[in-house]
Amino acid sequence: MIIAPSVLNANFLNLEADIKATEKGGADWIHLDIMDGNFVPNISFGPGIAAQIRKCTKLPLDCHLMIEHPEQHIAEFAKAGVQYITVHAEATKHLDRLLNQIRELGCKAGVSINPATPLEDIAEVLDLADLVLIMSVNPGFGGQSLIPYCLEKVRRLRAMKPNLQIEIDGGVNLETLPLAKQAGVNVFVVGSAIFGAKNVEEETRRFCSLLKG
Ligand code: DX5
Ligand code: ZN
Repeated sequence: MIIAPSVLNANFLNLEADIKATEKGGADWIHLDIMDGNFVPNISFGPGIAAQIRKCTKLPLDCHLMIEHPEQHIAEFAKAGVQYITVHAEATKHLDRLLNQIRELGCKAGVSINPATPLEDIAEVLDLADLVLIMSVNPGFGGQSLIPYCLEKVRRLRAMKPNLQIEIDGGVNLETLPLAKQAGVNVFVVGSAIFGAKNVEEETRRFCSLLKG
């Protein structure tokens, strides 16, 4: 069971302190949302910031690429020192090749689908993925509400693959986390619910004890 705070809604003028607060609070991974203004409407940050984040925490970095042409950028993120690189099935024509390339770069390979994309679109590549990220909001922004039917996709995927790492991203808070856990999620991305709190460390601890306590 993994809590992965997403820094998208962190204080970027004080990012190191925010990340360290989640680490002290018991976070397992740090989730990095990479957005290009094309695949999603928002723009966030790139491999340069990822490399700087790598220097300020020992936690595994979970890099979620919401970008067009991910094949052109995976090497830069691997070089930045991230552990997981997750790409969207909707963003590439050659998902099989891309997942293999991520592993060849020495990273764990993740594949993600948007809420409207059926599970069937990734069925053939499940054995090439170390992690499947089921988006529970339309990607682009923090602070949205979890779309309930996405948990049905989690349930079906968990039944197909009992040992797979299944991650959920979007709208996870103290109320929705237990529902996602019950559906079969084992990796929980939490953005605004942690970084919007007054005390980031305490809030991270609250999520960790709800999940693991
Ligand atoms: C959404 C991003 C998420 C986002 C989650 O496009 O992929 O990782 O930061 O934020 P919350 O937890 O606020 O929904
Ligand atoms: Zn994300």
